[in-house]
Amino acid sequence: MAELDTLDIIVLGAILLGTIAYFTKGSLWGVVKDPYASSFAANAGQKSGRTRNFIEKMDETDKNCIVFYGSQTGTAEDYASRLAKEGKSRFGLNTMVADLEDYDFENLDEVPSDKIVMFVLATYGEGEPTDNAVEFYEHIRGDDVTFSNGSTLDNLKYVAFGLGNNTYEHYNAIVRRVDETLTKLGATRIGTAGEGDDGAGTMEEDFLAWKDPMWAALADSMGLEEREAVYEPTFAIVDRDTLTAESEEVYLGEPNKNHLQGTPKGPYNAQNPYTAEVAESRELFKSKDRSCIHMEIDVSGSNLSYQTGDHIAVWPSNAGFQVDLFLKVLGLEGKRNHVISIKALEPTAKVPFPTPTTYDAIARYHMEIGAPVSRQMISTLAAFAPNDEVKAEMTRLGNDKDYFHDKTGNSFYNIAQFLEA
Ligand SMILES: Cc1cc2nc3c(=O)[nH]c(=O)nc-3n(C[C@H](O)[C@H](O)[C@H](O)COP(=O)(O)O)c2cc1C
Ligand SMILES: *[C@@H]1O[C@H](CO)[C@@H](O)[C@H](O)[C@H]1NC(C)=O
Ligand SMILES: *[C@@H]1O[C@H](CO)[C@@H](O)[C@H](O)[C@H]1NC(C)=O
Ligand SMILES: *[C@@H]1O[C@H](CO)[C@@H](O)[C@H](O)[C@H]1NC(C)=O
Repeated sequence: MAELDTLDIIVLGAILLGTIAYFTKGSLWGVVKDPYASSFAANAGQKSGRTRNFIEKMDETDKNCIVFYGSQTGTAEDYASRLAKEGKSRFGLNTMVADLEDYDFENLDEVPSDKIVMFVLATYGEGEPTDNAVEFYEHIRGDDVTFSNGSTLDNLKYVAFGLGNNTYEHYNAIVRRVDETLTKLGATRIGTAGEGDDGAGTMEEDFLAWKDPMWAALADSMGLEEREAVYEPTFAIVDRDTLTAESEEVYLGEPNKNHLQGTPKGPYNAQNPYTAEVAESRELFKSKDRSCIHMEIDVSGSNLSYQTGDHIAVWPSNAGFQVDLFLKVLGLEGKRNHVISIKALEPTAKVPFPTPTTYDAIARYHMEIGAPVSRQMISTLAAFAPNDEVKAEMTRLGNDKDYFHDKTGNSFYNIAQFLEA
């Protein structure tokens, strides 16, 4: 069986496989965002002063809630961002999202009891943590684990949600074990430890059903007042009128290539993927319900070698007609090739793709616009409805699971189709 933490992730050119939208859950961008090391000034500062002490980071940026994610292909990361956004908009929490890999956990026992730590954790392999969660997991599960001020976590209050697939033997093993361990070490869980199930296709609904009682329990525990959700943007769009789509520094979705610094150098791994060319591709046979393709991928320049079970990541793009519809619905059709930069409005947010870029490139390569729209997204968008009637309808669709299913049935509208309908 493959050990995920030793897998090499190779990023392919999109040439042939651009239509495989399956992997688009923001996943690739999770893998490749570091090599880009965005050219944006706001990010540069963040990089240089990077601390591995999350409590210090929270103090510096005045946060009282940190949402850690253990994610391989981006789903847990996405849920972590959603929790952070919701905590901020509904309860005025000062939230930040954090990659487990970016911090140390020796001082987990020193989190003040008026702060909350959330964990959103996927399970892989034979019940193993994601690559970015290995150190955290091994630290807290160590035989005689100690922290900077002792060996218990009496002050720690935490929230936990796991992502899994019940067709695997070790279903949601990581969140279960982390929860058990933290509790055993004296920490206090707020709400239940949620479990989302990809296998039953209920991940999204499991998450929604878990989070509301969790927020109620958290509000109770921290004495938070719920307020009317206030939308607070995390990023700002800055027009770059002096640039055009042809300007050299403008990123147009080139796969894994920092167009300013050239192709990244080895050694290649999941954090620094190698962009391989598809050397050959031909269909071996085709029947009514499947097609079988022989494909050769050229990794000769990479110093990587293939072993059974290794992973390959596909550089996908959204379908052209979906991009067109999305831009049209948002009234951005005429501006699709305008050059913009994205600026993080708060110090812990990372711009998830290189800029300057264009609306077209963002919609085509970076946004999840093809998947069915979530109820939570509809709730968030309700604040932007053109009139009160539409707002009320969107709020209801967002909050009422049965009504949503009655209305949208099996249409699986994506965001543009939903807004148009
Ligand atoms: C190769 C592979 C192995 C997996 N192993 C498990 C497992 O052992 N137990 C489990 O509950 N889920 C397992 N899953 C399901 C993932 O945890 C689930 O799809 C999750 O949503 C992935 O989250 P991520 O996108 O944040 O990485 C596995 C998924 C894949 C692709
Ligand atoms: C360290 O431990 C002592 C005794 O267990 C406790 O009184 C103190 O509050 C702890 N300090 C921190 C920063 O958690
Ligand atoms: C869950 O796991 C099974 C078995 O590996 C797989 O066939 C299925 O596609 C998975 N579901 C999702 C949504 O990933
Ligand atoms: C290639 O890989 C081998 C073994 O994995 C390693 O010893 C060697 O240093 C690598 N060479 C380069 C140029 O990265």
